[in-house]
Amino acid sequence: MSVATVAAAQTICAPLPVLGRDVTVPLVTGGEVTYAALDYAASAPALQRVWDDVAAYAPYYGSVHRGAGYLSQLSTDLFENARRTVEEFLDCRPDDQLIFTRSTTDSLNLLAAALPADCQVFVFETEHHASLLPWQDARVTYLNAPRTPGQAVETLEKALADRDPHGPALVCVTGASNVTGELWPVRELAAAAHAHGARIVLDAAQLAPHHPVSVQDLDVDWIAFSGHKLYAPFGSGVLAGRADWLQAADPYLAGGGASRKVTRREDGGVDVEWHESAARHEAGSPNVIGAYSIASACKALTEAGFDTLVAREQHLIEKVRVGLAEVPEVRVLSLFGDDAPRVGVISFVVDGWNSSHFAAALSAEYGIGVRDGLFCAHPLLRTLLGTDPQTQGECGAPEAAPGEKSLNAIRVSFGAGTPDEHVDRFVSAVKELVTAGAKWTYHTENGRCVPAVG
Ligand SMILES: Cc1ncc(COP(=O)(O)O)c(C=O)c1O
Repeated sequence: MSVATVAAAQTICAPLPVLGRDVTVPLVTGGEVTYAALDYAASAPALQRVWDDVAAYAPYYGSVHRGAGYLSQLSTDLFENARRTVEEFLDCRPDDQLIFTRSTTDSLNLLAAALPADCQVFVFETEHHASLLPWQDARVTYLNAPRTPGQAVETLEKALADRDPHGPALVCVTGASNVTGELWPVRELAAAAHAHGARIVLDAAQLAPHHPVSVQDLDVDWIAFSGHKLYAPFGSGVLAGRADWLQAADPYLAGGGASRKVTRREDGGVDVEWHESAARHEAGSPNVIGAYSIASACKALTEAGFDTLVAREQHLIEKVRVGLAEVPEVRVLSLFGDDAPRVGVISFVVDGWNSSHFAAALSAEYGIGVRDGLFCAHPLLRTLLGTDPQTQGECGAPEAAPGEKSLNAIRVSFGAGTPDEHVDRFVSAVKELVTAGAKWTYHTENGRCVPAVG
């Protein structure tokens, strides 16, 4: 069923309870307002359910895989059960391995470190830097931005047809763009990769929080995502998929937990037997709270039902898109066009406004938290803006004074915890700022646009 059909078929449910839903913030113009967190694509608020589960476990916290005591045993069980819950959530194959990491960035760097010798990597220039950059030590081919999902498949097929057919190859692709929110044709790209003897890793950082993801149905070889974007901000992420490359590689980190046996050699050195399970790449004390919180979020989303969650999110997307379309000065950024299926991540520019200025005014005058800048996707922003975008350092705010031509963008993003009021307030604020201007003056301080004091 398409996302639009799902949306049409469902009654719109209430948002899921998240932490921070009652937090108020001061307005520069006076008074306070409930904070509208509309930056889910960066980090989503914790689900109340996740927080409650973590709080209930916290008194029983103990070391994992290390202790003889009752709480260590309990924590070890909890950690391993979390692994199984997440494997189920992702619909992994029975022989897949799931490794708990720190984040999507960490997961993709782990996979990059485990590539077989002479592996060719194919990645679209439109990727988030976490998917774009870890492959620098491999033979990497950067593919030009496609303008339709079909063109993405054609571009990949052509690149793969030209490759050395005998060596190993990996395709890395995002499930949903962190800039446009558009869904990528993952199943088709996976089929193209496999037809040419390549493997594929799915960056599901922006997909997994919004859509059901099935490793088996999409037929991807690996999948990576972050807990903090999936309502579980306790420092863990996931890499799951084929065990063979992972087990043939050296451990990502050397240390305790990854090693089964360590012996001194006669020549004075040390021999190590590494584990052949997920533990091989989980050296050090595991982050049991991080893993448990991800499992809790997976259960909460599954129980809420993705059909219902998708329907609610599509309803919010529609409100934002219709609202922004009524403002001629606003240009929504898109690779695949208006009809492309998408998640609740929308980037735009406003004629005559510097994006940092606009985002600062949304925060200071309306209590709305969005993101401005280049979203760690510089080549994609260059394509979408048609200009050389400007940034000040990696993921930093662009250096531009208020009122200058926009060289970067504004991103609004939301999800399962977003009430209608937040997106309604956002749309009205955009309209008011464009027609009436900011009520306050702003200046650039350390590369960020901030309200002038006094
Ligand atoms: C599509 C995508 N991939 C990867 C990442 C990196 O995630 P993390 O910062 O959690 O490692 C992000 C973060 O914004 C993202 O949006």
